[in-house]
Amino acid sequence: MNKTWWKESVIYQIYPRSFNDSNGDGIGDLKGITEKLDYLKELGIDVIWLSPVYQSPNDDNGYDISDYQNIMDEFGTMKDWEELLAEVHARGMKLIMDLVVNHSSDEHAWFAESRKSKDNPYRDYYVWRPGKDGVEPNNWESAFSGSVWEYDQATEEYFLHIFSKKQPDLNWESPELRNEVYKMMTWWLDKGIDGFRMDVINFISKVPGLPDAPNQEGKQYVSGGEYFMNGPRIHEFLYEMNQEVLSKYDIITVGEMPGATVDDAKLYTGDDREELNMVFTFEHMDLDSGLNGKWDLKPLDLLDLKENITKWQVGLNGVGWNSLYLNNHDQPRMVSRFGNDKEYRVESAKMLATFLHMLQGTPYVYQGEEIGMTNVKFDSIDDYQDIEIRNMYRDKVIQGNEDHDKVMESIYVKGRDNARTPFQWDESENAGFTSGKPWLKINHNYKDINAKLAVADSDSIYHYYRRLIELRKKNSIIVYGEYELIMAEHQQIFAFTRTYENEKLLVITNFSGEEVMCDLPNDIVVSEDKLMISNYKEATNSTGASFTLRPYEARVYKFNSL
Ligand code: NOJ
Repeated sequence: MNKTWWKESVIYQIYPRSFNDSNGDGIGDLKGITEKLDYLKELGIDVIWLSPVYQSPNDDNGYDISDYQNIMDEFGTMKDWEELLAEVHARGMKLIMDLVVNHSSDEHAWFAESRKSKDNPYRDYYVWRPGKDGVEPNNWESAFSGSVWEYDQATEEYFLHIFSKKQPDLNWESPELRNEVYKMMTWWLDKGIDGFRMDVINFISKVPGLPDAPNQEGKQYVSGGEYFMNGPRIHEFLYEMNQEVLSKYDIITVGEMPGATVDDAKLYTGDDREELNMVFTFEHMDLDSGLNGKWDLKPLDLLDLKENITKWQVGLNGVGWNSLYLNNHDQPRMVSRFGNDKEYRVESAKMLATFLHMLQGTPYVYQGEEIGMTNVKFDSIDDYQDIEIRNMYRDKVIQGNEDHDKVMESIYVKGRDNARTPFQWDESENAGFTSGKPWLKINHNYKDINAKLAVADSDSIYHYYRRLIELRKKNSIIVYGEYELIMAEHQQIFAFTRTYENEKLLVITNFSGEEVMCDLPNDIVVSEDKLMISNYKEATNSTGASFTLRPYEARVYKFNSL
C-alpha cells in the first residue's frame, strides 16, 4: 500500500459560522478561527477543512456561492483569509477549502447572465429546459423539498436545482463551464491551499434527457437520484479535473458522494485511477432511516453498522482509501446518535472516537465532537435556521397534514442544526462564542460541556482525542493495518483486528449502555500489559479470552508478534 501524508493525517472540520465570532455580530468569522488555531494544534490536528467561506447570500449557509473568489462579508476579508492560511501553515498544519461546483448561487454573475436570454453566452452554464405539458420538465424532488425545477419568466423556461431554488445546478456538459471551474481551483491552489473537500461532486454528471423517475405511488415529486448520482460522465469529468488541476499539486482531495457504493469508491479513489484521494460515503449515515428517507426514524441495528463498515474497510483495502466520519455539519451529533448523551456521554463519546480512529482511513473530527457536544431541542420551529428543516416542516406540517410533534421529533433526532449550534468555548454568556446575539441558539448545556473545562480536565473527551491522535502518529498499524471483523454476530460489541507487518491490534467497543460479556475467538488472549488505550480509568480483570465490558467500554490491545 502506498504511504502518503494525507493517509496519515487527522482532519478537523470547521463550520465557520458557528466556530468563533471575533467581532460580536453573532456570526463566526475568519479572525475567530485564527484565534483558536493553537487549540487545534494542541489537539494534534494536521489538516483543517473549512466549510465554505466565499461570498454568498446564505440561503444554505455558504453552500450557495455568488463569487468563488471572494470572501463572505460576514466572515471577513481576503486579507483575513490570507492571514489565517499563513497562521495555519506557521503551525505546521494544512488548510483545505470546500469546493461547491455542482451548483452556484442564483446571485452568481454567471446565472444573472444565463437567465437573461436563450442565446446569452452563459446560457449553457446552467441546465435550462422548457416545461412539459404546462408543468415542470420532470418529476424529480429537490433535496430541500418541492420540485428540482424553477420557472423563470424572462425566457419562459425552467432551470434545474437539486438543492434550493437559489442553488441552480451548473451544467458540466459545457466545456467552457468546466474550464472556468478549473481556472478558479488553480487560482486557490496557487494561493497555497492544501486541497479540496468537494461538495456533492458525484452529482455533476446527469443522465442525458433527464428522464422522469419511476413513481409507482403517484407522488407529485420523487427522488431522481439514479439519474444524477454517479452519472455517465462522472469519471471522465473527475479524471479531466485531475489532469488539468489536481495532479499538479501535492494536495488532499475528498469528494462528498451520496449514493456512492464501495464499487463506485474503488473507481473514484483507486490508486491508478487519477481521480480523487477519498470519498465521503453516506451508507453508514442511512442505516437509521426507514424507507421514506432521513426523517423516517429507525433504530440503528449494530449488525447493519458492522456489515456496512466491514464492506468499506475490506473493499477499499489496498485499492483506494476510506475517509472516516460519524458526524459533520449535515448530520446530528455523533454522541447523541450512536452513543448516550446523558449518563454515559463521556464514555460513549470516547468509545465512538476509539472505534472511528482505529479503522483504516483518514479520520475527520467535526468541531465540538472532541468535547462531546450534543444534539439540541428547540421548542419552536422558528428557532431553527436550516433551510432543509424549514422547508420540510413547511411541506409536511403547514402545507401537508402531518403531526407537528412527530415532525419535531424527527428534527430533534436528525436535523442539521443539531451540529450547527455555536461552539461551546466556556461557561460565560453565549458559551464564549460571541459577545453579541448568536445567529443560532446556543445549546443550553454549555455550562457543563465546553472547551475550557475539557482542556483543564486530563480525563476529558478532548484529551482522549489527543491521545488517540498521538497514537496514530506513533503507530503505522493504526493508519495502514488491514482490518478484519471478529465476533460478527455479537449484538452489542463491535470488535475487529488490524494487522500490519508483524503487529496486530485488537479493538473492542461496547456500543451499548449495558455490561456485556466479551468472549474472544479462541486464538486471541489479552492481558493488561498489552492494553494501548481504553476509555475507563480503572482496569478490571480482563486477562484471558473472556471478560465483562462496562457500558460503552472501549479497549485497544496491541500485540507485537503474530
Ligand atoms: C452538501 C453540503 O454538505 C450541505 O450542507 C449542502 O446543503 C448541500 N451539499 C448543498 O450544497
